[in-house]
Amino acid sequence: MPDASIRHPSLDGTEIADSVLDLIGETPMVRMKRVSEERGIRCVLAMKHEVTNPGGSSKDRPALEMILAAEASGELQPGGTIVEPTSGNTGVGLAIVAAQRGYKCVFVMTTKVGKEKVDLLRAYGAEVVVCDVAVAPDDPESYYSVAERLTQERNAFRPNQYENPHNPVAHTNTTGPEIWRQTDGRITHFIAGAGTCGTLTGVGRYLKSMNPDIQIIAADPEASVFSGGSGRPYLVEGVGEDFFPAAYDGDLWDDVIPISDEESFLTARYVSETEGILIGGSGGMAVAAAMKVADAADDDAVIVVLNPDSGRGYLSTVFNEDWMMNFGFVQECEQCVGAVLDTRNASIENLLYVNPQQPVSDAIEIMRENGVSQLPVCKNTPPFANAEVSGSVDELELMEVIHRDPGAMDTAVEKVMSGKLPTIGVGQKVELAVSMLETAPALLVLSGGRPLSVLTRSDLLSYFTAVAEAAEAGL
Ligand SMILES: Cc1ncc(COP(=O)(O)O)c(C=O)c1O
Repeated sequence: MPDASIRHPSLDGTEIADSVLDLIGETPMVRMKRVSEERGIRCVLAMKHEVTNPGGSSKDRPALEMILAAEASGELQPGGTIVEPTSGNTGVGLAIVAAQRGYKCVFVMTTKVGKEKVDLLRAYGAEVVVCDVAVAPDDPESYYSVAERLTQERNAFRPNQYENPHNPVAHTNTTGPEIWRQTDGRITHFIAGAGTCGTLTGVGRYLKSMNPDIQIIAADPEASVFSGGSGRPYLVEGVGEDFFPAAYDGDLWDDVIPISDEESFLTARYVSETEGILIGGSGGMAVAAAMKVADAADDDAVIVVLNPDSGRGYLSTVFNEDWMMNFGFVQECEQCVGAVLDTRNASIENLLYVNPQQPVSDAIEIMRENGVSQLPVCKNTPPFANAEVSGSVDELELMEVIHRDPGAMDTAVEKVMSGKLPTIGVGQKVELAVSMLETAPALLVLSGGRPLSVLTRSDLLSYFTAVAEAAEAGL
């Protein structure tokens, strides 16, 4: 137990911070000079770099503000427990504040979040519960529901960053004034991703109060609700939502720029390599939007983009070649899976699929009409950006289902479907497809993170035949 009676000597005259909490905020701002030069951007494009917060992200700010407010209101008592569903960064912030002020932490996360983030929270001594990302928010096993249950069971304080007004307040009180001061009031555009909307709304409120002409712009994953999507699925972590959080304030936002997973990830890699500033997928998304704003802006514009965290948290995803290749974000070779599909003229528009709610008879008809024996089951039909694969159906399996129960023809596909097909990136090697098809009946080919086509053994046979014929003809 810490000895509270200890009298700490004065730090007057030193530059020693009193505790790690005093290191939250006052993050630097840096010009993106190399990117500007490469892209011919003439205005000022600067990054508010939140990585220098002690927890490595912008979320330290609301974490501190929410806990101080809960202490002041009596919601959080000495030695109490904090429960929060979080994709990681808020958890780190809360864990840091909790360590300093003597609270226990339990965090609820989804399977979408990288393993490093789970390990990181455990490193701060927190308990972490991981829930399946695929379940709906109102399901008892969703991460929102599990967090609610744990809060009751442990009589805990739940900061609820999605509802807590102190989340945007943290940014109104700190991030906004810092940006105003750092740009000497010259800022013309502010761009950030939105999750809880705390950052964008909080900063936006302050900046608009100083100068209503400042443009507040959200960068948003293409499938998220803020840019008109259904909320899923997309791969960028920490930003975009499938509902509108309390801090969402559409009237304050002058624009929303949808950015694809592919552009977000490739921009994160580009910025990291070009500027030597390691940023993650959501930072990449924000910079991608900021570059579009800068391309269209006057030369005297001062554009500030907020980078929320470090690329270090994404070494097993955005900066992992295998991961990027499997989703079809990067190419491994010239003659790869894409070349096999070219022999068939496959395209997202031509992806054959069946909806989960369609009857089994529809699935059988699609297969018969097109002479295929497997179909992916997709919600939010392709070619939409947010085509969501939920499983697959197979000729043989459907035959068995109908054989057992002829009435099953009218059953919804989702009731009888099998698991998802294994995936392969459009830029991965043909040899990999061959070895995967030794055990799988078919593969789902991904391009830019989205389903492109189904690849079967017969596709490979046609490809190899075409290659052999071409070789024979001396082509
Ligand atoms: C990792 C991460 N978390 C959260 C957010 C969103 O911040 P807020 O929840 O304040 O909207 C961002 C924004 O870019 C982010 O990248």
